[in-house]
Amino acid sequence: MTQELTTSLATEPARPSEGHGWWRDAVIYQVYVRSFADSDGDGIGDLRGARERLPHLAGLGVDAVWLTPFYASPQADGGYDVADYRAVDPLFGTLGDADDLVRTAHELGLKVIVDVVPNHSSDQHPWFREALADRPGGAARARYHFRPGRGAHGELPPNDWESVFGGPAWTRTTGPDGTPGEWYLHLFAPQQPDLNWDSPEVRAEFDSVLRFWLDLGVDGFRIDVAHGMVKAAGLPDIGHTEQAKLIGSQVLPFFDQDGVHEIHRSWRRLLDSYPGDRIGVAEAWAPTAERLALYVRPDELHQAFNFQFLKCPWDAAAMREVIDESLAATGSVGAPTTWVLSNHDVVRHTTRYADGAGGGPERGLARARAAALLILALPGSAYLYQGEELGLPEVTELPDELRQDPAFFRTSPDGQEGQDGQDGFRDGCRVPLPWTRSGDSYGFGPGGSWLPQPEDWAELSVEAQTGDPGSTLELYREALALRRELPGLGDGSMSWLDAPAGVLALSRPGLVCTLNTLGEEVELPVPGRALLSSAPLAYQAGTVRIPPDSCAWWAI
Ligand code: NOJ
Repeated sequence: MTQELTTSLATEPARPSEGHGWWRDAVIYQVYVRSFADSDGDGIGDLRGARERLPHLAGLGVDAVWLTPFYASPQADGGYDVADYRAVDPLFGTLGDADDLVRTAHELGLKVIVDVVPNHSSDQHPWFREALADRPGGAARARYHFRPGRGAHGELPPNDWESVFGGPAWTRTTGPDGTPGEWYLHLFAPQQPDLNWDSPEVRAEFDSVLRFWLDLGVDGFRIDVAHGMVKAAGLPDIGHTEQAKLIGSQVLPFFDQDGVHEIHRSWRRLLDSYPGDRIGVAEAWAPTAERLALYVRPDELHQAFNFQFLKCPWDAAAMREVIDESLAATGSVGAPTTWVLSNHDVVRHTTRYADGAGGGPERGLARARAAALLILALPGSAYLYQGEELGLPEVTELPDELRQDPAFFRTSPDGQEGQDGQDGFRDGCRVPLPWTRSGDSYGFGPGGSWLPQPEDWAELSVEAQTGDPGSTLELYREALALRRELPGLGDGSMSWLDAPAGVLALSRPGLVCTLNTLGEEVELPVPGRALLSSAPLAYQAGTVRIPPDSCAWWAI
């Protein structure tokens, strides 16, 4: 099949001109600290390990790193249960290590974003301990959501809200004498009580926490559950079960309430009061691209993760629709769009794209490589999840006794019900990275690894892929180098070109990107000089055969 590539509908969202911030087209690499690199041999990644491996990230060509929570925490939810927002957990190192990491990153030209977890604290946070010790209605309880239960003896939860990890979103307290008392709200695990953002103390405390890390030199924050801090007044019942899922888009009285925007505005003012471009990135689950865009209005946060794209199936028409919607929505408020394929909460996209596709893991990898070139060609900023540059798949064979994801244990005692494609599978994308072909934990650290790495990861290691022109690692390196070199990539305009069904062709200044989502090759007129392709191209008399499940960049 040969088809003309001609310009059609242009998708050039309104982009009010404003100063070009580094974040508008930054490629930001997510370091899941406990699984990136281990310096001390305890099998758990740490800040010193991450710092030692920063040259890999600088060499890869990313602009910034986002570090997942490394704060003092009982680790009930991989550190998203913070007991001290200003301290580094000994598992991950010391405050000095954090300081060293930020300094080294800056020396290498990398920005550093850290997580902040404002929706909930750990149940071991001094505030929550005080709250438990306080009486109903006491000042210490006002920092959280405590309520009397329903039913004759308060034996029923205050409302019908469910925890994202399964089960009720409320846990009943027990007094020192063993009598049951009030209930407290936790949208996630019971060890993660929700903070009450109506409390001025809570607001002041987080301002101070942000300042603490900004003073240490971080370039911004990834804001956990940025859509959840404000709950609908009166905490109304929802009236049905099957409520929130991780990365969901349901309309719920505890997510995406209008009141959260005022908090983000105040944080923006705080960020802007620091020198340099310090940014806020919302982890927000909103029902639509338009609702998500509200988080990135000019006086709010800089970016929000685009989960609509992450959830989009491998289908050209669906992808085009999500791309158009995303660009139009963020463009309408003058913000860049973000492109994300994987993170520590979802099945790795190499595996997602293989699911139900036929062709097994190779097909998933081919699509993953193509998707990487697609997102790096789109206008805006891209987030890479550690290991995707190695083409790592999800690890689906983990022994239950090694699993740590609270969702796995919350849903049912044996975890079985949790395995429905999202809950219970988060450990499978958190398996430590392979750096070398051999050695303890494939170079992850001098000891073992907190989750076992599959044997065939030796050949997926950084060492094995470096210098191999066909490797996924070298594909990412080349793509990121080109992205820096070519002014048409990153922030800016984009238009669609006509292309056969199943194929996307988009034009950026000086460049065309073609994506073939079909399971068969497609013949096209040669769009230009091939710059990079996720699979080998074959030419024939003015046409090029684009392999199945592949993406290519062309200079025009
Ligand atoms: C989103 C984080 O990415 C996830 O890992 C965590 O479990 C929840 N927020 C709760 O903090």
